[in-house]
Parts: sequence; structure tokens; C-alpha cells
Amino acid sequence: MLLCLHEQILHMQIKNNQIFVPEFIQNLEPYRPGKSIDLEHYNKYKAIICSNENNLGPSPLAMSAIKNEVSKIHFYPDPQGEKLVEKLAKIHQRNANEIILSNGLDGLLYTVFKAFSLPGDNVISSEFSFVAFNKFSKMNNVELRLTPMTREYKFDLQEILKSIDDRTRIIYICNPNNPTGTSINETTLKDFLNKVPKSILVILDEAYYEFGKNADSNFPDTIQMKYNNVISLRTLSKIYGLAGLRIGYGIADEYIISALKKVKLVFNPNSLAQVGALAALDDFEHLKKTLDNNKYWISEISIALKQKGIFYIESYANFITVIFPSIEEASSFNSFMDSAGVLLRKLDGFGMPNAIRISIGNSDEMKFFLMVLTTCPIYL
Ligand SMILES: Cc1ncc(COP(=O)(O)O)c(C=O)c1O
Repeated sequence: MLLCLHEQILHMQIKNNQIFVPEFIQNLEPYRPGKSIDLEHYNKYKAIICSNENNLGPSPLAMSAIKNEVSKIHFYPDPQGEKLVEKLAKIHQRNANEIILSNGLDGLLYTVFKAFSLPGDNVISSEFSFVAFNKFSKMNNVELRLTPMTREYKFDLQEILKSIDDRTRIIYICNPNNPTGTSINETTLKDFLNKVPKSILVILDEAYYEFGKNADSNFPDTIQMKYNNVISLRTLSKIYGLAGLRIGYGIADEYIISALKKVKLVFNPNSLAQVGALAALDDFEHLKKTLDNNKYWISEISIALKQKGIFYIESYANFITVIFPSIEEASSFNSFMDSAGVLLRKLDGFGMPNAIRISIGNSDEMKFFLMVLTTCPIYL
């Protein structure tokens, strides 16, 4: 039936001298980012706290390493990123052949579908989680199963187990989760991983791992768990402040990594990203500053929200999500903040139209946010 429809579209497009675009591609929506990339538009805002970036800026060590590398960008980058892989192997105490670099964590999610799924398969994630995974499933004509969250806005791992069938290829878990900020503890996670059939790849998206670990010293590190069917994904876009460079990595059993290497674009990540990442991983001062800033403001903002009577979800990441009783209240809060110069992220695109995500920015931005929050008339 699906094939028939494809053939009908194909014939129609050929008849009209059009390039054939498969129906499932036509049905995709382009990604809507949290903010416009127009810099002039930025000037309107005193706090841009919408995309979970590190607003303390990039690591100074990374910036100077990148400057030194710029004169060499007429050369292709090392396609294996050997130096960076070696460094990550040392940091995580894993073998170099268990590591793959990528053009952001996003780039690895994209590659995982290419390597491990076929149209007609299914993949499982949860509602209210990172939507890029959902989009990649649609892009690959793979059925997406979204399970409900618990009442505490956590991944419901029992529901995920119930959704598995013999066409399930991939399960996606985000810990801490974007956009709810919730975490899964080590016992719960291990219990779940022990129950998942070993033929299913489990993705652990740990984009916010460092913040989770700083909030709870027992926060699970799946890189050290060594399940053969788990891939742990990390990024330098968040705590390391390198979102614009596009660099992330995955760690898994060599069997998984070698399949991914076969389908990855050859010269990524680029050379500036590779040297920037190498330097940023050594910048412990910048790391500590970022973690301290985050912990301090997560606590201050939580207190202020509580005083204001706004419901928020306890966060293990670098953002806090607030939930309003209605979509209208969320919209008016967002509009008020926006016109006062605070850019936040409304979570309609994540299936949470009555929720807004507040990223932790630098001190000036957070002080400004707090000042605007106290003047917000809706909750006085
Ligand atoms: C959970 C999660 N995974 C992945 C990413 C994307 O990371 P990267 O910038 O490395 O592609 C984000 C960015 O917001 C995220 O929140």
C-alpha cells in the first residue's frame, strides 16, 4: 500500500517534470530553533536564556587553540580525530576503538539511524524528550513510539519495556532529560538495561551529564557500565561552551562503533572543532566556573519561582522548566518576559504547550531575569 502511494507520487512528479521527493520527506517539518539567528534581533534582549548554551562563553583555552589552528584550515581534518579520540579514551578509560567523534551529538543520532534501522522498524522514546530523535525517525521512515512520562516528568522505563516488540531496533533515553531536567538514578537505569533484549540498541543521550553529576554525585555514568548494547552520547555544546563548533562523541562496544564509522561523513568533525575540543577538555577552571554558576543559579531561580507560586520541575541540568495551569498563562508569561528583554523557550514543539524552559545564563542575565520576574504582574 505504502509502495503504491510512493509509486503514484513518483509517476505524478515525473509527469510534471518534478524531482521526486518521497512522501515521508515531504511530510517533515523543518527544525524550529529556540531563537532567531539574526544578531540584530539579539540586541533586543538582555538575557538570551533559551537554548541551554553556556553563556559564560567558550573556554578561553579552546579559543586560543582555535586561533592557532586557523592558518591551517586549508588542510583536511584528521578523519579519525586520533588525538581527540586518544584524549577521550584516557578521560573515560575506554579503548580508542570504542569511541567515535561527530558533528555534534545531533550528528551521531543521525548516523545511528543510518547504521541500525530500516524502514518498517520501530524505535522508542518518551513524550516530552529531545525532539531531534523523533525527527530522525521520521526522516528514516521508521515508526516512532512515544511512551508517556511518569507524573514526575521522568522517563517511564516500565512503559518503554512494554512497548518493545520484534521490530524494535533502538530505544532512546535522555539523562538528564531535555526539556524536563529530570534524572534517572543508577539502580533504576541498571534494572532497565538488564531487562532490554541485547539485540536492541539503547542510546543514552548524556548531553547534560556534567550538570547531572554536579547535582548528584551518584548520577549514573553509562560509559563506565559497559553494556554491549548501549551507546553513550556526549557533547561539547553544553558545559564546554562550543555549541557553534559542532562537536560531540559516542562511546560503545567496538562492534557498534565500527558500524557507525562505516556510515559517518568522512571529514567531520572539522579541524577547528577537534583542536577546540582538545583544549576545552583541559580547561578545568572554565569547567568549575560553569558548574558553580549553574548550581548557584539553579538554586536561586528555584527559590524565586517557589516564592512567586510558579510550578517548576526540579532540575539536574542547566535549565529549569516551569509549568503553567493553562497554555494562555504560559503564553502571557512568555510574552511579558520577551517584551522585557528576556528570551525563553516555549515548549510547544516538545508537546508541552503550557511549559516554558529557562536556561541558566551568566550572572548578569540571571539577575536581570530575577528582576523581571519580580515585576511580572501575572503572579503578584
Ligand atoms: C538532549 C540533547 N541532546 C543533544 C543535543 C544536541 O547537541 P549538539 O549541539 O551536540 O548537537 C541537545 C541540544 O540541545 C540536547 O538537549
